[in-house]
Amino acid sequence: MEIILRHITKEDTEAYFKAHDEDAAKFFATYPTTMEEAAKEVQEILDAYEVPKEKRTKETFAIDIGGMFAGFIAIHHIVRGKEGTTGSLVAPEFRGRGVGTQAHKLLLAYAFKTYKLKKIYGRTKLANKASQRMLEKSGYKYEKTIETEGGKKKLYVVFS
Ligand SMILES: CC(C)(COP(=O)(O)OP(=O)(O)OC[C@H]1O[C@@H](n2cnc3c(N)ncnc32)[C@H](O)[C@@H]1OP(=O)(O)O)[C@@H](O)C(=O)NCCC(=O)NCCS
Repeated sequence: MEIILRHITKEDTEAYFKAHDEDAAKFFATYPTTMEEAAKEVQEILDAYEVPKEKRTKETFAIDIGGMFAGFIAIHHIVRGKEGTTGSLVAPEFRGRGVGTQAHKLLLAYAFKTYKLKKIYGRTKLANKASQRMLEKSGYKYEKTIETEGGKKKLYVVFS
């Protein structure tokens, strides 16, 4: 299954909204519950593309499989020359087939090079076994468990 990462467009809004199922509700701090909220989030993603790369703190990509929106993946909290954090969601119908792992490998190569990062973090709730497995398959190593506003999370890291 060949996947590509491309920038999100307004046309992705409905698929972006529909991809947020009950697992997204369980594992994300915030998620859109209406099309209006989804449109607002997509607009924030588009606005971030307008910031020059040198100053950008976040870049989000659609995971595209044969022209279909199969989810999204982002590098955020970018500190150029230093570090960033990834976040991802694969649409329910595409899960468990290696899509999230492939998307991470593509994003890591891009983000290390583009933003000259030394390390990239991934954080997951303790119960999010699929995400932990995906991060490990993508080359991340478990570092420690941290306390966050959203409860305990496992912190994973991968170095350039
Ligand atoms: C986490 C997520 C992005 C993974 O995407 P994906 O395309 O299914 O990931 P992959 O197929 O590359 O890898 C998932 C791995 O987890 C495993 N897995 C899935 N559910 C699991 C579970 N409940 N317990 C243990 N392992 C599980 C899969 O079998 C697979 O491992 P394998 O290849 O060794 O069999 C996807 O499940 C998702 O979008 N979840 C909801 C949003 C979310 O949690 N995002 C991450 C927030 S930190």
